[in-house]
Amino acid sequence: MPRFVKLATRDELPPGGGKEVEYEGRVYAIFNIGGTLLAIDGICPHQGGPLAEGMVEGTIVTCPWHGWQFDLETGTMPSGSRIKQAVFEVKVEGRDVLVAVA
Ligand code: FES
Repeated sequence: MPRFVKLATRDELPPGGGKEVEYEGRVYAIFNIGGTLLAIDGICPHQGGPLAEGMVEGTIVTCPWHGWQFDLETGTMPSGSRIKQAVFEVKVEGRDVLVAVA
């Protein structure tokens, strides 16, 4: 059973918005993509860039440091690289945004 923890509120994530949250030593990047909330490991595996600050087009986030891209739904890279970023299930309860942290 995943353990869902409140990491944000809906008010902190307007459509198109992204937010970085650290919890138990891990950094999460949570995005509101047209009303759907998606969460990915917030630290870019290239050199540690902050994915929450990246540009998002569709479900693709682009790291603000050197442009690596990740699909927020799958964690895969559109370039076809075998690198895969962890993604996390998200659910909303009232105004609370809960992320499956483990
Ligand atoms: S740190 Fe993300 S692309 Fe380099």
